[in-house]
Amino acid sequence: MLEVDGVTVRFGGVVAVDGASIEARSGEITGLIGPNGAGKTTLFNVITGVQPAAGGTIRLDGTDITKLATHRRAKMGMSRTFQRLELFWTLTVADNVRVAAELARHGDPTALTEELLDRVGISHLAAEPSGSLPTGSARLVEVARALASTPRVLLLDEPASGLNESETVALGALLRQLVADGLAVVLVEHDMSLVMDICDHVSVLDLGRIIASGPPAEVRTQPAVIEAYLGVA
Ligand SMILES: Nc1ncnc2c1ncn2[C@@H]1O[C@H](COP(=O)(O)OP(=O)(O)OP(=O)(O)O)[C@@H](O)[C@H]1O
Ligand SMILES: [Mg+2]
Repeated sequence: MLEVDGVTVRFGGVVAVDGASIEARSGEITGLIGPNGAGKTTLFNVITGVQPAAGGTIRLDGTDITKLATHRRAKMGMSRTFQRLELFWTLTVADNVRVAAELARHGDPTALTEELLDRVGISHLAAEPSGSLPTGSARLVEVARALASTPRVLLLDEPASGLNESETVALGALLRQLVADGLAVVLVEHDMSLVMDICDHVSVLDLGRIIASGPPAEVRTQPAVIEAYLGVA
């Protein structure tokens, strides 16, 4: 599905991502964890084509997309949400999703909007202005919007940030449902209990390098991971 192979990103003298490789498969949630500044968001930016890679290869279903423009990657089935919420705050919840549904141009945008709001469980908020939403609901609007293009790969950058415990549990259930429908999800998240609960596979990034990779139960016990991250979480 999505293969990131030896990707490097430099900002001047800073190596933000240093030969990182991760994979995301259909039907699975791949967790990408690591301390602040490890390079997680930068890696998402490279995968989506917002940031050029200084080295390495990105493949989607075997096709090299390393040099492809962001909108072409989106057309091929890649979608994302942002660490810093990016909604149209003056628009209603429904209109935020409708904008994406219209851009997606498959089927009736109104019907697709209703379906997406229902899918993420916020139909009752359709007419609310986005600016008045609590963070938990706003993050779900972003997920609904990201789903409008019927992606095959969904990249989520700290979707549980600002969510309370019950919202986090509901988000986890939603993500499991999405992968059961065939999506590949890459989850950047600091909430370790969520990551350990719902991920099939976890990769740990530290100072731009992948220092561990495997099933969550294995990764969490590795000394290098505990030292770099879990011990201070
Ligand atoms: N546009 C930029 N210009 C210069 N340096 C940058 C830029 N974006 C990120 N960096 C640097 O790259 C490194 C990785 O940052 P990144 O935001 O990818 O980390 P992160 O793992 O997402 O952290 P967090 O958990 O805090 O979101 C950091 O050292 C950061 O300061
Ligand atoms: Mg980040």
